[in-house]
Amino acid sequence: MAKVAIMGFGTVGSGVAEVLAGNAASIEKKAGEPVEVKYILDLREFPDSPFADKIVHDFSVIENDPEVSVVAECIGGARIAREYTARALKAGKSVVTSNKEVVAECGDEFLEIAREKNVNYLFEASVGGGIPILRPLTSCLAANEITEIFGILNGTTNYILTKMIKEGLSFDTALRQAQEKGYAEADPTADIEGHDACRKICILASLAFGRHVYPRQVPTTGITGVTSGDVALAHAAGKRIKLLGRTLRLDDGKIIAYVAPHLIDDGEQLAGVEDVFNGIVVRGNAIGDVMFYGRGAGKLPTASAVAGDIIDAVKHRQERRTGMEWLPGGDEIMGDDQDLPMRWYVRVSGGFAEGRPDSAANLLGGVTLINVPEREDCAGMITKNAMSRRELDRRLAETGTEALSIFPVLD
Ligand code: HSE
Repeated sequence: MAKVAIMGFGTVGSGVAEVLAGNAASIEKKAGEPVEVKYILDLREFPDSPFADKIVHDFSVIENDPEVSVVAECIGGARIAREYTARALKAGKSVVTSNKEVVAECGDEFLEIAREKNVNYLFEASVGGGIPILRPLTSCLAANEITEIFGILNGTTNYILTKMIKEGLSFDTALRQAQEKGYAEADPTADIEGHDACRKICILASLAFGRHVYPRQVPTTGITGVTSGDVALAHAAGKRIKLLGRTLRLDDGKIIAYVAPHLIDDGEQLAGVEDVFNGIVVRGNAIGDVMFYGRGAGKLPTASAVAGDIIDAVKHRQERRTGMEWLPGGDEIMGDDQDLPMRWYVRVSGGFAEGRPDSAANLLGGVTLINVPEREDCAGMITKNAMSRRELDRRLAETGTEALSIFPVLD
């Protein structure tokens, strides 16, 4: 019998307890032994919960109990989760987590402790919610050189953008709905400002390229600057706006990672990824492009991935699982996203009447002008040629064009 502790009885933690209890018989077969929740750590009491008798308030109860071999960290946030994760690993327990913040900030440290202690540190749920992405990346696609990964990595912002585009909901109403459905972070700033997607692209980049990419190295723009004018202009151009995380390795070996709203052609698969769904494209030198798609947030989809890691950790109690790990990073391995050639969408002030876009068009080497007949306040353009952001800014400044929004176009 494997004894498990769950830390944090919020949306994800309670989902993990439900999945382990509800699917106990099939989980026992897959793990090779029964898997039982012995403790649930939380500050609160849950007198009406069927798991009320498992609640403890003191982490040291879990830390000092040799019977507990796997700890599921579902606390969220960085400070306490980080301390308890380190202590649990040092106490010789495997830790599984959905906590992208902790994995992205200090996964390399925890992987090192796990190696020393011969235990597992697993985090499938930290990227893509319920979508299996980390294991396929490191197992099924192991024979590939991964050249690029990009995708919709945040369910909350994709839900908001979908509702704004398809139902004309306001940003605030759509965000409130996402919170009610349990998709958003405790502080939704992390979703809408792109920090959550940033953490996930850090984890994907670290796994794909073998060195830790830290959030501070990843330029991040969220969706708070996306206006209804941008949505209308993208629609007029036959495109949609999606918040993407992207990482790639350049020919010189440097890694680039960034998060930003992108314009995507309506016909592209990623454009059809809606609501809370995530879609992640992995580009390998043998497979070409492969896309992973599924529910990127929510109680049971995320719990599904955490419980899968618990089963894996139980199966690998004697001989730890290898392959899902990386080495510490460093600034010398990172390239500059400002030098990456891309096509650009630019929303301009003042409309086309004043002639500025025309002169901008000349300097930008050709653009497709976009306007929305019923909205005189909206005017934009998409460059025909790829150029770096640095070059775009220089050319726009030369024409005196005031850009209200600048987003890359996914080609
Ligand atoms: N807040 C996150 C999201 C939860 O919306 O994607 C899943 O990581």
